[in-house]
Amino acid sequence: MSVLEVLTYPDKFLREPTKAVENIDGRIQKLIDDMAETMYDAPGAGLAAIQVGFDKSIIIFDSLPGETKKSLQVLLNPEILESNGEIISENEGCLSVPDFTSDVKRSASVLVEAIDREGSPWQIEAQGYLAIVLQHEIDHLNGILFIDRISSLKRELYKSRIKKKLREK
Ligand code: NI
Repeated sequence: MSVLEVLTYPDKFLREPTKAVENIDGRIQKLIDDMAETMYDAPGAGLAAIQVGFDKSIIIFDSLPGETKKSLQVLLNPEILESNGEIISENEGCLSVPDFTSDVKRSASVLVEAIDREGSPWQIEAQGYLAIVLQHEIDHLNGILFIDRISSLKRELYKSRIKKKLREK
């Protein structure tokens, strides 16, 4: 397994649409293992394949973050079937949006359909933290970052900070 480089904003690849996984072969299994290693190394709450340079519909996350025992979840081709209610995700962050967090409006609960890494279909009904993680990671598969869901004023502040940082490099 190896730790992969995580692409960061404003890398245009993060905006690419992803393709469904049709054949769960050895390359896909290796990518999932490398994604897990990358996520736990960072550490991050979740990771989408597009963030490490693969335009595939794959997301991973740990359903018990902060616990010593790892609880890795792998979803291929996930789709939100239903979303209900509204909550504020406090201080949401992203490995692809370094040094920045913000409150984000999210659905309070989601029903997600996906297949696991063995190819078996499964559905998950998530609320609260888990619902937020799922929405955040599935957004990545559609080229959406959490900064797209905050006020334009806050977003512009972040953008100008990044531009300044890039100029200083
Ligand atoms: Ni993210």
